[in-house]
Order: sequence, then structure tokens, then C-alpha cells
Amino acid sequence: MKTIIEPFRIKVVEPLRMTTPQQRERILRQADFNVFLIKAEDVLIDLLTDSGTGAMSSLQWAGIMRGDESYAGARSWYVLKEKIEALTGFQHVLPTHQGRASERILFELVGGPGKIVPNNNHFDTTRANVEHTGAQAVDLVIEEGRCPTTRHPFKGNLDLAKLEGLIQQVISQGFKPADKIPLVMVTVTNNSGGGQPVSLENLRGVRRICDRHGLPLFLDACRFAENAWFIKQREAGQQSRSVREIVREMFELADGATISAKKDGLVNIGGLLLLRDEELVRRADELLILTEGYLTYGGLAGRDLEAMAQGFEEVVEEDYLRYRIRSTEYLGEKLLAAGIQIVEPPGGHAIYIDAKHFCPHIPPHQFPGQALVCGLYRHAGIRAVEIGSVMFGKSGPPPMELVRLAIPRRVYTQSHVDYVVEAIIEVFQQREKLRGLEIVWEPPSLRHFTARFREL
Ligand code: F0G
Repeated sequence: MKTIIEPFRIKVVEPLRMTTPQQRERILRQADFNVFLIKAEDVLIDLLTDSGTGAMSSLQWAGIMRGDESYAGARSWYVLKEKIEALTGFQHVLPTHQGRASERILFELVGGPGKIVPNNNHFDTTRANVEHTGAQAVDLVIEEGRCPTTRHPFKGNLDLAKLEGLIQQVISQGFKPADKIPLVMVTVTNNSGGGQPVSLENLRGVRRICDRHGLPLFLDACRFAENAWFIKQREAGQQSRSVREIVREMFELADGATISAKKDGLVNIGGLLLLRDEELVRRADELLILTEGYLTYGGLAGRDLEAMAQGFEEVVEEDYLRYRIRSTEYLGEKLLAAGIQIVEPPGGHAIYIDAKHFCPHIPPHQFPGQALVCGLYRHAGIRAVEIGSVMFGKSGPPPMELVRLAIPRRVYTQSHVDYVVEAIIEVFQQREKLRGLEIVWEPPSLRHFTARFREL
């Protein structure tokens, strides 16, 4: 059969509320054109994020009942720890409430003024956590990853020559690489760069450079399973391996990982910090207890740990991944067929519309991505998110102005996606009506969450 179906059936449903165009106009204005400030119940199809928005399985809900709520040594913790050890090979597993808590602990320990953290592309919270310590976050994705139209099977790859160049620059200033670069990070899949995967070959290449210069390699592994699926589909010699084997190799190449379980953990809350270095573990444990919680629950309830353990099991099932990646690709193909430029090829968890192409009449400083986000909400009650000059443009425009349509896991059906396609095409047909915006208020950092806009 050619049709790839949802490998599940639906047991619980949640009603969606329709709104009228007049209501949406009022709601958008009340939110000062920032869709983060809109109530979720006023959204029809919510593609703001794939994070924490997935549907849990019946076995995960059963785990919620099974959760052991003991403070120390809960059975649920050992269930999760064993699963993660088997999946990744890491023996030091720290539970956190979400990815950025892992990032905060890690960068508090290794960051600081004068330090440089390279990555293919830092995501917003990762960058913010690096910079919060006074360190500098540097993006070294390959050139293909900076242009929406170039097709490359692993557009998330880190540019090895740029990494070597950065290290040589540090050496030429009279430092040992490790004095300045506490770790090299690779984000799988590369969220800010279009949800694009990183190849095993690239990870091995980064590993070799790290070994040569005595640097640790960390994964930002929020979407490790989607990345492994792409490797199995696209990388030479990987077709006969299981996703589990590929996942294992990805993690074995690394010295540590931060994970938001709200993505490929298939849960609504949860995160992990994986480490190898004993001294780093000791110091991370201290911070974990200080601000997250004791070592065996880390700011989560036992039931959350149990749901995570089951989620990390289900996410590497190949029927699930086939459906997951195909449903994102389906949305991307329909938009491309209608002449709407997206980041090609379609990413794993989201489709990224090229807002420069969609709104050529709106210059970057008037936020073409935000204009499109507002247009989608106005027209059809769809909530997307800007990844461009609003999110990353404080010190000059980023290479791409994107609007991300993130697909929550196991939540929307094909007809929901068809509705989204129809709506975007209608907005595209009258795109000259979209208007640029200016910021009237913004906070000192992470401005996209709370900034307020005025339409020009
Ligand atoms: N790293 C990446 C690559 C992410 O995409 C995210 C979150 C995080 C780290 C932080 O994890 O939210 O659990 O604290 N991304 C979400 C998104 C919010 O919408 O892409 P968190």
C-alpha cells in the first residue's frame, strides 16, 4: 500500500472552537499582534510548537496511574533510567522539568564570560542560556543550511571547516582550545535551520575534530528519533539498520546531551541531561538538587517519569516515525505545489515558510514573518511562529525570515492539514494585503515571547 496511515486510532477527543473573522481581528489587536499573547482556546489549529503539545498513548496514560510519587528512589525513576540507558548508552541521567532546565545547569557549569559555544544553530532558549552566562553562542551550520531553496539531504550539518577555523582562531590568540570552547554542540534535528537533519558522517567528523583538540561533544537531542529516521532514509549504508541502532550510535558519539522530552519524549512536560564526565556529573547533581529537585525526580512527578519512559519507547517505533515524517512532508509538498517557497526539503517536525518570498513587499526590519503569522491567524485561526528578525534579529537580520508551522505529535488529522494548506494558499493569493509591523515594546531578551507590535 502506498498510503501511509496514522498508526493509531483515537480514543479521547478535545473539541476545537471556531471563531469568526471579526472575533479574530479583535483578539489579534488585543494581543498587540503577538500570537504568543493569544489564548489557546481562541486558536483553531495550533502550530505554534511541537513541544509539549503531543498526544500521549493509552500506555502512557496507564503509566500516569502507575507513577510512584516517592521523593527518593521512586520505582518510576528506575524505569525511566533503565530505558534511557538502553536507548542511549548513557549511565548518568539527570531528570529535569524540560530542555532549557538541562541547558541552564550545563551552561552554568561550563559557560561564562570569554567562552565560545559552537553549534549548527542554537535554538532560542539554548542561545539565551549560553549568553546568560556571558558566553558567546556561534552558529556554524553548512552554507546550504542558510538558504531555503538549496536541497541537501543533511542541511542541518555543522560546517567542519568553520569549526576547525574557529578552533584555529582560538589557538592563534594563544589559548588552548578547551580554555575558550567548553564544548561543541550539535542540534538534532536543527530546529532554527528548518528542522533539518544531521548525518552520522557529520557527527563522526565533529567527533574527530573534538578529539583532536580535546573538546567534548554535546547533542541538543530534542528530536533525536526524527533525526535517526532521516539517517535511515537518506544516508548511504544506513537503510538496513534499525532506528534504535542509529540512535545508539548518535549518542555514543557524544559526551553528553540536553533533551527536551516534550518533543521526541512524547510527553507534555519533562527533560533530561545526559553526561559522562564524573566531575561534571557531581557538579550538575548539586545544581539539580538546588533548583530542580532531588536526583531521582528532578522537578517532575513520578507519573511524568513513567510517561516519559513509555514515550521514549514509542518514539523509535518505525511505523510511528514513517507516519510522523510523512505527515510533515505532505504539508510541505502541498505548499510547494502551490508555489509557496518553504525551506526545502521539508523538515522533520515542522514546515518553514520563506517569508521573504511570501511577502517580498515587506523588508526584514518590518518583520515579514510576523506579518504572515498575523495573516494566518486572521484568515483561518491558525497559529504559527516567526523564526526570523523578531526572534533572532536584535543585532541585525538573520539569514532567513521564516514562519514555522510546527506539527504536534499524533494530534491533528490529514483533514486538519488540508485545511491549513487551503488557508495558506488563500492568504498567498492576496499576499500584497499583508502589512509590515513595528515593535512598540520589547523586553531585554527573548523578545518574541512578549514583544508588542503595531501594524504599519
Ligand atoms: N533545544 C531545541 C532544539 C528546542 O527546539 C527546544 C525547544 C529546546 C532546546 C528547549 O526545550 O522547551 O523543553 O525547554 N523548542 C520548542 C520549540 C520550545 O517550539 O521549538 P524546552
